[in-house]
Amino acid sequence: MQHGQNKICVLILAAGKGTRMRSKTPKVLHKILEEPLLYYPLSELISAGFKDISVMVGFSGEIVEEWIKGEFSEINVLWQKEQLGTGHAARLARDWWKDYENVVILPGDTPLIKADTLRKFINAHIENDNSCSFLSFDLPDPAGYGRVIRDGLSVRIVEHKDATPDERKCREVNSGMYVFKTSALSSVIDGLNCVNSQKEYYLPDAVALIEQDGGRTDAVKASDATEFLGINDPNQLAAAASVMKKRILDKWMDSGVRCNDPASTWIGPKVELGEDVEIWPSVQLWGRTSIGSGCTVGSFTVISDSVLEDCVEIVGSVRIKKSRVGERSTVGPFVFIRDGAELHSDVHVGRFVEIKKSTVRSGAKVPHLSYVGDADIGEKTNIGAGTITCNYDGEKKNFTKIGNNCFVGSDTMFVAPVTIGDDVVTAAGSVITQDIPDGALGVARARQKNIEGWSSRRKIRKGGN
Ligand code: UD1
Ligand code: MG
Repeated sequence: MQHGQNKICVLILAAGKGTRMRSKTPKVLHKILEEPLLYYPLSELISAGFKDISVMVGFSGEIVEEWIKGEFSEINVLWQKEQLGTGHAARLARDWWKDYENVVILPGDTPLIKADTLRKFINAHIENDNSCSFLSFDLPDPAGYGRVIRDGLSVRIVEHKDATPDERKCREVNSGMYVFKTSALSSVIDGLNCVNSQKEYYLPDAVALIEQDGGRTDAVKASDATEFLGINDPNQLAAAASVMKKRILDKWMDSGVRCNDPASTWIGPKVELGEDVEIWPSVQLWGRTSIGSGCTVGSFTVISDSVLEDCVEIVGSVRIKKSRVGERSTVGPFVFIRDGAELHSDVHVGRFVEIKKSTVRSGAKVPHLSYVGDADIGEKTNIGAGTITCNYDGEKKNFTKIGNNCFVGSDTMFVAPVTIGDDVVTAAGSVITQDIPDGALGVARARQKNIEGWSSRRKIRKGGN
Protein backbone atom coordinates (compact mmCIF):
# COMPACT_ATOMS: atom_id res chain seq x y z
CA MET A 1 0.00 0.00 0.00
CA GLN A 2 1.26 3.49 -0.81
CA HIS A 3 1.07 6.14 1.92
CA GLY A 4 2.42 9.13 0.10
CA GLN A 5 6.00 8.15 -0.55
CA ASN A 6 5.97 5.42 2.11
CA LYS A 7 5.80 1.87 0.94
CA ILE A 8 4.36 -0.29 3.67
CA CYS A 9 4.24 -4.02 4.18
CA VAL A 10 2.53 -6.06 6.89
CA LEU A 11 3.98 -9.07 8.66
CA ILE A 12 1.67 -11.25 10.72
CA LEU A 13 3.28 -13.52 13.28
CA ALA A 14 1.50 -16.86 13.36
CA ALA A 15 4.22 -19.43 13.94
CA GLY A 16 3.63 -20.07 17.63
CA LYS A 17 2.12 -23.26 18.96
CA GLY A 18 -0.27 -21.63 21.37
CA THR A 19 0.69 -23.87 24.29
CA ARG A 20 -2.03 -22.39 26.50
CA MET A 21 -4.75 -23.60 24.08
CA ARG A 22 -3.74 -27.21 25.02
CA SER A 23 -4.65 -28.41 21.54
CA LYS A 24 -3.03 -30.14 18.55
CA THR A 25 -4.50 -27.47 16.27
CA PRO A 26 -2.18 -24.48 15.76
CA LYS A 27 -3.56 -21.48 17.65
CA VAL A 28 -4.26 -19.29 14.62
CA LEU A 29 -6.52 -21.97 13.11
CA HIS A 30 -8.78 -22.15 16.16
CA LYS A 31 -12.13 -20.77 15.12
CA ILE A 32 -14.34 -17.84 15.98
CA LEU A 33 -17.78 -18.03 14.33
CA GLU A 34 -16.49 -20.94 12.23
CA GLU A 35 -13.56 -19.01 10.71
CA PRO A 36 -9.93 -19.36 11.88
CA LEU A 37 -8.50 -16.58 14.07
CA LEU A 38 -6.17 -15.63 11.23
CA TYR A 39 -9.10 -14.92 8.92
CA TYR A 40 -10.03 -11.79 10.87
CA PRO A 41 -6.87 -9.64 10.71
CA LEU A 42 -6.24 -10.77 7.12
CA SER A 43 -9.71 -9.80 5.91
CA GLU A 44 -9.49 -6.44 7.75
CA LEU A 45 -6.11 -5.69 6.16
CA ILE A 46 -7.30 -6.62 2.69
CA SER A 47 -10.49 -4.55 3.07
CA ALA A 48 -8.29 -1.60 4.13
CA GLY A 49 -6.35 -1.91 0.88
CA PHE A 50 -3.08 -3.44 2.12
CA LYS A 51 -1.47 -5.52 -0.60
CA ASP A 52 1.97 -6.57 0.62
CA ILE A 53 1.19 -8.99 3.42
CA SER A 54 3.20 -11.95 4.69
CA VAL A 55 2.28 -14.46 7.35
CA MET A 56 5.03 -16.16 9.34
CA VAL A 57 4.04 -19.80 9.93
CA GLY A 58 5.84 -22.49 11.89
CA PHE A 59 4.06 -24.83 14.30
CA SER A 60 1.93 -27.14 12.08
CA GLY A 61 2.79 -24.60 9.40
CA GLU A 62 1.78 -26.90 6.52
CA ILE A 63 -1.90 -26.75 7.48
CA VAL A 64 -1.74 -23.02 8.21
CA GLU A 65 -0.11 -22.46 4.80
CA GLU A 66 -2.68 -24.66 3.07
CA TRP A 67 -5.51 -22.67 4.66
CA ILE A 68 -3.92 -19.34 3.68
CA LYS A 69 -3.41 -20.44 0.07
CA GLY A 70 -7.02 -21.64 -0.14
CA GLU A 71 -8.56 -18.53 1.39
CA PHE A 72 -6.19 -15.65 0.52
CA SER A 73 -4.06 -16.79 -2.43
CA GLU A 74 -2.45 -13.32 -2.75
CA ILE A 75 -0.80 -13.53 0.68
CA ASN A 76 2.84 -14.50 1.03
CA VAL A 77 3.86 -17.26 3.47
CA LEU A 78 7.19 -17.25 5.34
CA TRP A 79 8.57 -19.98 7.56
CA GLN A 80 9.96 -19.99 11.09
CA LYS A 81 10.85 -23.67 11.56
CA GLU A 82 12.00 -23.23 15.16
CA GLN A 83 9.93 -20.82 17.23
CA LEU A 84 12.50 -18.84 19.17
CA GLY A 85 10.27 -15.84 19.86
CA THR A 86 8.56 -12.90 18.19
CA GLY A 87 11.88 -11.07 17.69
CA HIS A 88 13.35 -14.13 15.99
CA ALA A 89 10.30 -14.37 13.71
CA ALA A 90 10.66 -10.70 12.70
CA ARG A 91 14.37 -11.23 12.02
CA LEU A 92 13.77 -14.26 9.80
CA ALA A 93 11.44 -12.13 7.65
CA ARG A 94 14.04 -9.39 7.15
CA ASP A 95 14.84 -10.38 3.56
CA TRP A 96 11.20 -9.73 2.74
CA TRP A 97 10.55 -6.48 4.67
CA LYS A 98 13.93 -4.82 4.05
CA ASP A 99 12.77 -3.62 0.62
CA TYR A 100 9.95 -1.52 2.13
CA GLU A 101 10.21 1.75 4.02
CA ASN A 102 7.96 0.68 6.92
CA VAL A 103 6.83 -2.67 8.23
CA VAL A 104 3.67 -3.20 10.28
CA ILE A 105 4.01 -6.24 12.55
CA LEU A 106 0.86 -7.78 14.02
CA PRO A 107 0.22 -10.89 16.12
CA GLY A 108 -1.91 -13.55 14.43
CA ASP A 109 -3.82 -14.17 17.65
CA THR A 110 -5.57 -10.78 17.93
CA PRO A 111 -8.69 -11.12 15.77
CA LEU A 112 -10.72 -8.12 16.96
CA ILE A 113 -8.51 -5.37 15.54
CA LYS A 114 -10.34 -3.02 13.16
CA ALA A 115 -8.93 -1.73 9.87
CA ASP A 116 -9.82 1.82 10.81
CA THR A 117 -7.76 1.70 14.01
CA LEU A 118 -4.77 0.33 12.10
CA ARG A 119 -5.07 2.96 9.40
CA LYS A 120 -5.07 5.83 11.95
CA PHE A 121 -2.17 4.28 13.85
CA ILE A 122 -0.06 3.88 10.70
CA ASN A 123 -0.86 7.39 9.47
CA ALA A 124 0.22 8.87 12.82
CA HIS A 125 3.50 6.90 12.64
CA ILE A 126 4.24 8.31 9.21
CA GLU A 127 3.14 11.87 9.99
CA ASN A 128 5.29 11.96 13.14
CA ASP A 129 8.22 10.42 11.27
CA ASN A 130 8.60 7.82 14.03
CA SER A 131 11.17 5.05 13.87
CA CYS A 132 8.90 2.81 15.90
CA SER A 133 5.29 3.10 17.04
CA PHE A 134 3.27 0.53 18.92
CA LEU A 135 -0.30 0.38 20.16
CA SER A 136 -0.91 0.07 23.88
CA PHE A 137 -4.07 -0.04 25.96
CA ASP A 138 -5.16 -0.14 29.60
CA LEU A 139 -6.45 -3.31 31.21
CA PRO A 140 -7.86 -3.69 34.74
CA ASP A 141 -6.33 -7.18 34.83
CA PRO A 142 -3.15 -6.98 32.73
CA ALA A 143 -1.81 -10.46 33.66
CA GLY A 144 0.01 -12.17 30.78
CA TYR A 145 0.60 -9.05 28.69
CA GLY A 146 3.84 -7.10 28.28
CA ARG A 147 3.77 -3.95 30.48
CA VAL A 148 4.50 -0.54 29.01
CA ILE A 149 6.97 1.14 31.36
CA ARG A 150 7.24 4.88 30.83
CA ASP A 151 10.10 6.86 32.32
CA GLY A 152 9.80 10.51 31.37
CA LEU A 153 9.69 10.48 27.59
CA SER A 154 11.32 7.09 27.24
CA VAL A 155 9.33 3.88 27.01
CA ARG A 156 10.12 0.18 27.13
CA ILE A 157 8.15 -3.07 27.32
CA VAL A 158 8.65 -5.69 30.02
CA GLU A 159 7.07 -9.11 29.57
CA HIS A 160 4.78 -10.28 32.39
CA LYS A 161 7.09 -13.16 33.30
CA ASP A 162 10.12 -10.85 33.54
CA ALA A 163 8.42 -7.96 35.30
CA THR A 164 9.15 -6.99 38.92
CA PRO A 165 6.16 -6.91 41.32
CA ASP A 166 6.10 -3.11 40.91
CA GLU A 167 6.16 -3.31 37.10
CA ARG A 168 3.34 -5.89 37.19
CA LYS A 169 1.12 -3.27 38.81
CA CYS A 170 1.28 -1.24 35.60
CA ARG A 171 -2.02 -1.51 33.69
CA GLU A 172 -0.86 -0.14 30.37
CA VAL A 173 -0.01 -3.14 28.19
CA ASN A 174 1.53 -3.84 24.80
CA SER A 175 -0.94 -4.87 22.06
CA GLY A 176 1.81 -6.61 20.07
CA MET A 177 1.06 -4.32 17.09
CA TYR A 178 3.92 -2.21 15.80
CA VAL A 179 5.06 -0.13 12.85
CA PHE A 180 8.82 0.10 12.34
CA LYS A 181 10.91 2.04 9.92
CA THR A 182 12.68 -0.89 8.33
CA SER A 183 16.04 0.90 8.54
CA ALA A 184 15.61 1.31 12.32
CA LEU A 185 14.43 -2.26 12.88
CA SER A 186 17.17 -3.67 10.73
CA SER A 187 19.87 -1.94 12.73
CA VAL A 188 18.66 -3.31 16.11
CA ILE A 189 17.21 -6.72 15.26
CA ASP A 190 20.54 -8.55 15.44
CA GLY A 191 21.09 -7.00 18.87
CA LEU A 192 18.09 -8.77 20.46
CA ASN A 193 19.07 -11.45 22.94
CA CYS A 194 17.23 -14.23 24.70
CA VAL A 195 18.39 -13.51 28.22
CA ASN A 196 14.94 -13.62 29.82
CA SER A 197 12.62 -15.99 31.65
CA GLN A 198 11.31 -17.58 28.43
CA LYS A 199 14.72 -17.73 26.71
CA GLU A 200 13.12 -16.19 23.64
CA TYR A 201 14.01 -13.28 21.37
CA TYR A 202 11.36 -10.68 22.24
CA LEU A 203 10.28 -8.25 19.52
CA PRO A 204 9.14 -5.75 22.21
CA ASP A 205 12.83 -5.37 23.20
CA ALA A 206 13.41 -3.71 19.81
CA VAL A 207 11.44 -0.69 21.04
CA ALA A 208 13.98 0.20 23.74
CA LEU A 209 16.92 -0.58 21.45
CA ILE A 210 15.61 1.80 18.77
CA GLU A 211 15.18 4.47 21.40
CA GLN A 212 18.75 3.95 22.64
CA ASP A 213 19.87 4.37 19.02
CA GLY A 214 18.21 7.80 19.01
CA GLY A 215 15.12 6.76 17.00
CA ARG A 216 11.74 8.36 17.78
CA THR A 217 9.46 5.82 19.46
CA ASP A 218 5.86 6.32 20.40
CA ALA A 219 3.43 4.21 22.42
CA VAL A 220 0.01 5.09 21.01
CA LYS A 221 -2.61 4.42 23.65
CA ALA A 222 -5.88 3.15 22.17
CA SER A 223 -9.20 3.71 23.92
CA ASP A 224 -11.06 0.48 23.06
CA ALA A 225 -9.24 -2.40 24.76
CA THR A 226 -11.48 -5.07 23.22
CA GLU A 227 -9.79 -4.64 19.82
CA PHE A 228 -6.53 -5.95 21.26
CA LEU A 229 -7.72 -9.00 23.15
CA GLY A 230 -5.03 -11.62 22.51
CA ILE A 231 -6.21 -15.22 22.26
CA ASN A 232 -4.00 -17.45 24.33
CA ASP A 233 -6.48 -19.87 25.93
CA PRO A 234 -10.02 -21.22 25.34
CA ASN A 235 -11.52 -18.62 27.69
CA GLN A 236 -10.14 -15.76 25.65
CA LEU A 237 -11.27 -17.55 22.47
CA ALA A 238 -14.86 -17.62 23.75
CA ALA A 239 -14.66 -13.99 24.90
CA ALA A 240 -13.46 -12.84 21.46
CA ALA A 241 -16.18 -14.91 19.75
CA SER A 242 -18.85 -13.17 21.77
CA VAL A 243 -17.49 -9.69 20.88
CA MET A 244 -17.31 -10.58 17.17
CA LYS A 245 -20.79 -12.14 17.27
CA LYS A 246 -22.28 -8.92 18.63
CA ARG A 247 -20.39 -6.77 16.10
CA ILE A 248 -21.76 -8.82 13.21
CA LEU A 249 -25.32 -8.88 14.55
CA ASP A 250 -25.27 -5.12 15.19
CA LYS A 251 -24.11 -4.55 11.62
CA TRP A 252 -26.98 -6.61 10.19
CA MET A 253 -29.62 -5.18 12.50
CA ASP A 254 -28.44 -1.67 11.55
CA SER A 255 -29.08 -2.64 7.94
CA GLY A 256 -32.64 -3.76 8.73
CA VAL A 257 -32.38 -7.48 9.50
CA ARG A 258 -34.94 -8.43 12.15
CA CYS A 259 -33.30 -10.71 14.64
CA ASN A 260 -35.74 -11.73 17.35
CA ASP A 261 -33.20 -13.05 19.82
CA PRO A 262 -29.65 -11.76 19.28
CA ALA A 263 -28.39 -13.82 22.22
CA SER A 264 -29.07 -17.13 20.47
CA THR A 265 -28.32 -16.04 16.88
CA TRP A 266 -24.88 -16.75 15.38
CA ILE A 267 -23.86 -15.29 12.05
CA GLY A 268 -20.41 -15.85 10.53
CA PRO A 269 -18.37 -12.99 9.06
CA LYS A 270 -18.75 -14.07 5.42
CA VAL A 271 -22.55 -14.39 5.51
CA GLU A 272 -24.59 -12.01 3.33
CA LEU A 273 -28.18 -11.05 4.18
CA GLY A 274 -30.69 -9.26 1.93
CA GLU A 275 -33.42 -6.77 2.81
CA ASP A 276 -36.34 -7.70 5.04
CA VAL A 277 -34.83 -10.85 6.43
CA GLU A 278 -36.33 -12.19 9.64
CA ILE A 279 -34.41 -14.53 11.92
CA TRP A 280 -36.08 -16.44 14.74
CA PRO A 281 -34.32 -17.55 17.97
CA SER A 282 -31.56 -20.19 17.89
CA VAL A 283 -30.34 -19.85 14.31
CA GLN A 284 -26.77 -20.33 13.05
CA LEU A 285 -25.62 -19.06 9.65
CA TRP A 286 -22.07 -20.01 8.67
CA GLY A 287 -19.49 -19.82 5.91
CA ARG A 288 -20.33 -18.31 2.52
CA THR A 289 -24.06 -18.37 3.13
CA SER A 290 -26.24 -15.84 1.37
CA ILE A 291 -29.84 -15.20 2.40
CA GLY A 292 -32.01 -13.35 -0.14
CA SER A 293 -34.48 -10.54 0.47
CA GLY A 294 -37.72 -11.34 2.25
CA CYS A 295 -36.54 -14.69 3.66
CA THR A 296 -37.60 -15.99 7.06
CA VAL A 297 -35.29 -18.34 8.92
CA GLY A 298 -37.15 -20.30 11.59
CA SER A 299 -35.80 -21.49 14.94
CA PHE A 300 -33.21 -24.25 15.40
CA THR A 301 -31.92 -23.88 11.86
CA VAL A 302 -28.26 -24.20 10.86
CA ILE A 303 -27.27 -23.11 7.35
CA SER A 304 -23.70 -23.30 6.06
CA ASP A 305 -22.14 -22.40 2.69
CA SER A 306 -25.57 -22.22 1.06
CA VAL A 307 -27.72 -19.81 -0.89
CA LEU A 308 -31.35 -18.99 -0.15
CA GLU A 309 -32.84 -16.99 -3.00
CA ASP A 310 -35.49 -14.33 -2.29
CA CYS A 311 -38.65 -14.97 -0.23
CA VAL A 312 -37.69 -18.43 1.00
CA GLU A 313 -39.40 -19.60 4.15
CA ILE A 314 -37.42 -21.89 6.40
CA VAL A 315 -40.07 -23.12 8.81
CA GLY A 316 -37.63 -24.27 11.51
CA SER A 317 -35.40 -27.15 12.62
CA VAL A 318 -33.66 -27.30 9.25
CA ARG A 319 -30.04 -28.08 8.36
CA ILE A 320 -28.79 -26.85 4.96
CA LYS A 321 -25.22 -27.51 3.88
CA LYS A 322 -23.52 -26.54 0.59
CA SER A 323 -26.86 -26.29 -1.23
CA ARG A 324 -29.18 -23.82 -2.92
CA VAL A 325 -32.87 -23.10 -2.31
CA GLY A 326 -34.81 -21.30 -5.05
CA GLU A 327 -37.11 -18.31 -4.59
CA ARG A 328 -40.43 -18.66 -2.78
CA SER A 329 -39.62 -22.21 -1.67
CA THR A 330 -40.67 -23.43 1.76
CA VAL A 331 -38.55 -25.84 3.75
CA GLY A 332 -39.13 -27.64 7.03
CA PRO A 333 -39.64 -28.48 9.77
CA PHE A 334 -37.09 -31.28 10.34
CA VAL A 335 -35.34 -31.24 6.98
CA PHE A 336 -31.71 -31.91 6.00
CA ILE A 337 -30.58 -30.56 2.62
CA ARG A 338 -26.95 -31.25 1.75
CA ASP A 339 -24.04 -31.84 -0.62
CA GLY A 340 -24.89 -29.65 -3.58
CA ALA A 341 -28.65 -30.10 -3.56
CA GLU A 342 -30.45 -27.58 -5.78
CA LEU A 343 -34.04 -26.67 -5.09
CA HIS A 344 -35.47 -24.50 -7.86
CA SER A 345 -38.24 -21.91 -7.35
CA ASP A 346 -41.55 -22.61 -5.54
CA VAL A 347 -40.43 -25.97 -4.22
CA HIS A 348 -41.89 -27.36 -1.02
CA VAL A 349 -39.85 -29.69 1.17
CA GLY A 350 -41.28 -30.49 4.56
CA ARG A 351 -41.45 -32.66 7.64
CA PHE A 352 -38.70 -35.25 8.05
CA VAL A 353 -37.14 -35.15 4.59
CA GLU A 354 -33.50 -35.50 3.51
CA ILE A 355 -32.36 -34.22 0.11
CA LYS A 356 -28.80 -35.01 -0.92
CA LYS A 357 -26.95 -34.06 -4.15
CA SER A 358 -30.21 -33.79 -6.09
CA THR A 359 -32.12 -31.30 -8.22
CA VAL A 360 -35.72 -30.60 -7.30
CA ARG A 361 -37.27 -28.58 -10.12
CA SER A 362 -39.76 -25.69 -9.92
CA GLY A 363 -43.05 -26.35 -8.20
CA ALA A 364 -42.13 -29.89 -7.10
CA LYS A 365 -43.16 -31.07 -3.64
CA VAL A 366 -41.52 -33.50 -1.24
CA PRO A 367 -43.82 -32.94 1.72
CA HIS A 368 -43.25 -35.82 4.16
CA LEU A 369 -40.80 -38.48 5.36
CA SER A 370 -38.70 -38.98 2.22
CA TYR A 371 -35.07 -39.57 1.22
CA VAL A 372 -34.07 -38.08 -2.13
CA GLY A 373 -30.41 -38.80 -2.95
CA ASP A 374 -28.60 -38.55 -6.33
CA ALA A 375 -31.87 -37.73 -8.08
CA ASP A 376 -33.51 -35.26 -10.42
CA ILE A 377 -37.16 -34.51 -9.72
CA GLY A 378 -39.10 -32.80 -12.50
CA GLU A 379 -41.29 -29.71 -12.40
CA LYS A 380 -44.55 -29.89 -10.43
CA THR A 381 -43.96 -33.51 -9.49
CA ASN A 382 -45.43 -34.59 -6.16
CA ILE A 383 -43.49 -37.11 -4.12
CA GLY A 384 -45.74 -39.08 -1.76
CA ALA A 385 -44.95 -39.63 1.90
CA GLY A 386 -42.34 -42.25 2.69
CA THR A 387 -40.76 -42.30 -0.80
CA ILE A 388 -37.11 -43.30 -1.03
CA THR A 389 -34.59 -43.18 -3.85
CA CYS A 390 -32.56 -46.31 -3.14
CA ASN A 391 -29.32 -44.85 -4.50
CA TYR A 392 -26.67 -47.05 -2.90
CA ASP A 393 -26.09 -50.63 -4.07
CA GLY A 394 -23.40 -51.34 -1.50
CA GLU A 395 -20.63 -50.25 -3.85
CA LYS A 396 -21.61 -47.07 -5.64
CA LYS A 397 -24.26 -44.37 -5.75
CA ASN A 398 -26.81 -44.60 -8.59
CA PHE A 399 -29.03 -41.97 -10.16
CA THR A 400 -32.84 -41.64 -10.21
CA LYS A 401 -34.50 -39.42 -12.81
CA ILE A 402 -38.15 -38.53 -12.33
CA GLY A 403 -39.91 -36.44 -14.99
CA ASN A 404 -42.30 -33.49 -14.82
CA ASN A 405 -45.87 -33.57 -13.44
CA CYS A 406 -45.51 -37.02 -11.89
CA PHE A 407 -47.59 -38.26 -8.98
CA VAL A 408 -45.47 -40.60 -6.91
CA GLY A 409 -47.61 -42.73 -4.60
CA SER A 410 -46.71 -42.96 -0.94
CA ASP A 411 -43.99 -45.37 0.04
CA THR A 412 -42.57 -45.81 -3.45
CA MET A 413 -39.03 -47.22 -3.54
CA PHE A 414 -37.06 -46.19 -6.65
CA VAL A 415 -34.25 -48.72 -6.97
CA ALA A 416 -31.59 -46.71 -8.84
CA PRO A 417 -30.47 -46.46 -11.54
CA VAL A 418 -33.95 -45.86 -12.85
CA THR A 419 -35.62 -43.33 -15.17
CA ILE A 420 -39.23 -42.24 -14.83
CA GLY A 421 -40.85 -40.27 -17.67
CA ASP A 422 -43.21 -37.26 -17.52
CA ASP A 423 -46.84 -37.53 -16.25
CA VAL A 424 -46.14 -40.84 -14.56
CA VAL A 425 -48.11 -42.20 -11.62
CA THR A 426 -46.67 -44.84 -9.30
CA ALA A 427 -48.93 -46.94 -7.14
CA ALA A 428 -48.40 -46.54 -3.39
CA GLY A 429 -46.03 -49.12 -1.92
CA SER A 430 -44.37 -49.93 -5.27
CA VAL A 431 -40.77 -51.03 -5.52
CA ILE A 432 -39.78 -49.58 -8.90
CA THR A 433 -36.85 -51.41 -10.45
CA GLN A 434 -37.54 -50.71 -14.13
CA ASP A 435 -37.89 -47.48 -16.10
CA ILE A 436 -41.45 -46.13 -16.59
CA PRO A 437 -42.38 -44.42 -19.89
CA ASP A 438 -44.20 -41.06 -20.16
CA GLY A 439 -47.83 -41.10 -19.09
CA ALA A 440 -47.78 -44.65 -17.62
CA LEU A 441 -48.82 -46.02 -14.24
CA GLY A 442 -46.08 -48.02 -12.56
CA VAL A 443 -47.35 -50.70 -10.18
CA ALA A 444 -44.85 -53.00 -8.51
CA ARG A 445 -46.41 -54.72 -5.52
CA ALA A 446 -48.20 -57.96 -4.72
CA ARG A 447 -51.92 -57.98 -5.52
CA GLN A 448 -54.16 -57.81 -2.43
CA LYS A 449 -56.07 -60.97 -1.43
CA ASN A 450 -59.00 -60.83 1.08
CA ILE A 451 -59.84 -64.01 3.00
CA GLU A 452 -63.51 -63.91 4.05
CA GLY A 453 -64.43 -64.90 7.64
CA TRP A 454 -60.81 -65.30 8.70
CA SER A 455 -61.12 -63.24 11.94
CA SER A 456 -63.92 -65.26 13.51
CA ARG A 457 -62.17 -68.56 12.63
CA ARG A 458 -59.07 -67.23 14.41
CA LYS A 459 -61.04 -66.43 17.57
CA ILE A 460 -62.46 -69.95 17.68
CA ARG A 461 -58.97 -71.46 17.32
CA LYS A 462 -57.93 -69.40 20.36
CA GLY A 463 -60.86 -70.79 22.37
CA GLY A 464 -63.12 -67.72 22.19
CA ASN A 465 -66.82 -67.87 21.26
C1 UD1 B 1 3.02 -10.92 23.03
C2 UD1 B 1 4.00 -9.80 23.43
C3 UD1 B 1 3.41 -9.02 24.61
C4 UD1 B 1 2.03 -8.49 24.25
C5 UD1 B 1 1.12 -9.61 23.74
C6 UD1 B 1 -0.16 -9.02 23.16
C7 UD1 B 1 6.22 -10.75 22.95
C8 UD1 B 1 7.46 -11.33 23.53
N1 UD1 B 1 5.25 -10.41 23.82
O1 UD1 B 1 2.91 -11.79 24.13
O2 UD1 B 1 4.28 -7.94 24.93
O3 UD1 B 1 1.46 -7.85 25.38
O4 UD1 B 1 1.75 -10.36 22.69
O5 UD1 B 1 -1.08 -10.01 22.77
O6 UD1 B 1 6.15 -10.55 21.75
N2 UD1 B 1 4.92 -16.12 17.37
C9 UD1 B 1 5.70 -16.46 16.31
N3 UD1 B 1 6.92 -17.02 16.53
C10 UD1 B 1 7.41 -17.22 17.78
C11 UD1 B 1 6.60 -16.84 18.88
C12 UD1 B 1 5.35 -16.28 18.65
O7 UD1 B 1 5.31 -16.31 15.14
O8 UD1 B 1 8.53 -17.71 17.90
C13 UD1 B 1 3.59 -15.54 17.11
C14 UD1 B 1 2.46 -16.33 17.76
O9 UD1 B 1 1.95 -17.29 16.87
C15 UD1 B 1 1.43 -15.25 18.08
C16 UD1 B 1 2.25 -13.98 18.23
O10 UD1 B 1 3.53 -14.25 17.67
O11 UD1 B 1 0.48 -15.09 17.03
C17 UD1 B 1 2.41 -13.56 19.68
O12 UD1 B 1 2.97 -14.66 20.40
P1 UD1 B 1 2.42 -15.10 21.83
O13 UD1 B 1 3.19 -16.28 22.26
O14 UD1 B 1 0.94 -15.17 21.82
O15 UD1 B 1 2.89 -13.84 22.69
P2 UD1 B 1 2.23 -13.28 24.02
O16 UD1 B 1 2.72 -14.05 25.19
O17 UD1 B 1 0.77 -13.15 23.84
MG1 MG C 1 -0.57 -13.84 22.48
